[in-house]
Amino acid sequence: MSDRRIEKHPILSIPETRKIPFYWNSQKLEANEGEVISSALFANGIHVFGHHVKDGSPQGIFCANGQCAQCAVIANGIPVKSCMTKIEENMIVESVEGIPELPKAIDNLRFSDIKEIETDVLIVGGGPAGLSAALQLGERGVKTLIVDDKDRLGGKLVLQTHKFFGSIDDCYAGTRGIDIATILEDKLKKYPSLKVWLNSIVLYVFSDKKVGIVTNGKNYVIVKPKVVLNAAGARERSLVFPGNTLPGVYGAGAFQTLANRDLIKPAKRLFVVGGGNVGLIAAYHALQAGISVVGLVEALDQAGGYQVHANKIKRLGVPVYTRHTILSANGNEHVESVTVGKIDDSFRPIAGTEKTYECDTVLIAVGLSPVNEFFKQAEQAGIKVFAAGDAKEIAEASSAMFNGKIAGLEIARVLGKEDKPVPKEWYEKADLLKSPPGPITTPTDDSSPETGITPVIHCHQQIPCNPCVSVCKQQVIHIPGDSLLEKPEIANNECIGCNKCLFVCPGLAISLIDYREDPDNPVVSLAYEVYNYEYKEGDSVILADYEGNLLGEAIVIDAVISKKSRKTQIIKVRVPNDIAKRVAGFRIQKEEDVIPTHKVLVDRVPDDAIVCFCERVTAGEIRKLIRLGIRDLNQMKAITRAGMGACGSKTCENLILQIFKEEEVPLEEVTLNTMRPVFVEAPLGVFSNISYPK
Ligand code: FES
Repeated sequence: MSDRRIEKHPILSIPETRKIPFYWNSQKLEANEGEVISSALFANGIHVFGHHVKDGSPQGIFCANGQCAQCAVIANGIPVKSCMTKIEENMIVESVEGIPELPKAIDNLRFSDIKEIETDVLIVGGGPAGLSAALQLGERGVKTLIVDDKDRLGGKLVLQTHKFFGSIDDCYAGTRGIDIATILEDKLKKYPSLKVWLNSIVLYVFSDKKVGIVTNGKNYVIVKPKVVLNAAGARERSLVFPGNTLPGVYGAGAFQTLANRDLIKPAKRLFVVGGGNVGLIAAYHALQAGISVVGLVEALDQAGGYQVHANKIKRLGVPVYTRHTILSANGNEHVESVTVGKIDDSFRPIAGTEKTYECDTVLIAVGLSPVNEFFKQAEQAGIKVFAAGDAKEIAEASSAMFNGKIAGLEIARVLGKEDKPVPKEWYEKADLLKSPPGPITTPTDDSSPETGITPVIHCHQQIPCNPCVSVCKQQVIHIPGDSLLEKPEIANNECIGCNKCLFVCPGLAISLIDYREDPDNPVVSLAYEVYNYEYKEGDSVILADYEGNLLGEAIVIDAVISKKSRKTQIIKVRVPNDIAKRVAGFRIQKEEDVIPTHKVLVDRVPDDAIVCFCERVTAGEIRKLIRLGIRDLNQMKAITRAGMGACGSKTCENLILQIFKEEEVPLEEVTLNTMRPVFVEAPLGVFSNISYPK
């Protein structure tokens, strides 16, 4: 038993895995066969993977997605990204302390020729957009190669344990992301013209229209496509604040990878920065994994993600602090606490409002940037190129699936494999699915009849979603008009209590009231899918309304999970009539777990905050150069090394631009970094297909 691995989860099954030995700085440890080095280290409680050469500060994981280089370790003598490299039996893994020594020169190296292949379409990225495009191409027999850097298809879908929004017909609404990944993968198998390369990284698009790809970390192949589809997704943005490079500060996507893909419990108590859908969902996933969520800060007046996502975590007891920001992550070798504070209308911290919370992890969920370098490079090389999903525009995965489908059909047309134009409705649907959440309305007094069984809808914001309407055979729930965006309403009193709307609603925003037995004390059914999975008859629960306000206690009279329930448990409580329509969920986190532990006045030292993680360049160094008149990031790189690190400025470029904005320099005046050839780090030997003597 280890409290660092998830051994029980309401949604994910825990597979039996063979244990293998490996060595960490000479210490013999145990890993699960097939997992990446970073997860094996986390499972052994190791979060510090080395110390930076410049200032000796500790480093650990940040993106867990191969985009940054913070998680580097030395594996069998070679520096590698630990989040992308599988652990091997008896592997010798060492921390990177300063600059690693070069491996010793080896005699008798063998080099082999580089294979070149041709394909009609190269899809970079096997996530929701890439797979949806591939299905269109497969249907038309177009020779297509899908390249993905992970060991299974699905991209971010495989990290999503929650149900999807949208409509059932267009994007599997009501189905969990992990299940959608399997559905798409299965469909792909029907088409022989589609080929998939997993564990393969697209390194660069060369000016002779050839694309360099490394497979399984060692075989280099050149692919010559007629068309490229960039569906490489997005990378997480970081934030400048003191303590931002401490191990324990990482992206929300990294957390989902560790918890939902690798079944690692990376934290005991975490704090989330950012109230968009990514931050809200990550908080929910943490609760599902049995991790306390101490709080979430959002700089705006309301969480930017869907209200139903925010309310879902508020009901469970996660405080959401709007108009707040992170001031610092505190600790020596690892995060020990976080300090947050209120901000004014100009987003500046208000002195005296600082609060410090004990936590071991801070998740940064402040937005995503498209991975678009392949698109630009292919365009420059003169290859016909398309983009889809987050690589084109950051939006929900439901929208990525739809615009992937459009891209697939557009490519088929370019290749002469389809005569018909893309239906106009497809473009309209794609626009609809990426609609931002609408304004929030205050629920009005519900005067619906208190007889029979009736659903209550706790969804008070326009979002593109309607699976509750689709599954209701009695047509009790309907959407006025024909827009997916309108809020669902109750149309009749024909409800038979089938619970299908509770099972399918991604926001868990529907309850069912049964007045039949005792109208003064009706039974309310609630959907539940968090870690404390075994609520049973007789347990006491603390009831909450739709946005988490407490309504008193109740006793569970039934707790069921059935084959049809999509892993959602239905909890029934009998409550007084006057609160029945307001009950929307119940609290699981205790009040004392989420209050500040001590009030600390933090000296805010933004000039000391790190902007370039790889090279440990501070905001102060960048600011000084901006004030001296430097407007070219290449010049800045030459002076400070900011952007010269292993990630090739993928992490820091946005942060540097943020400082330009703070200094009120128009971004049109700024010259961006010249991207280094080869976007992804690769050992030099792969370019000549090197093989080492045994
Ligand atoms: S953060 Fe990697 S080069 Fe700056």
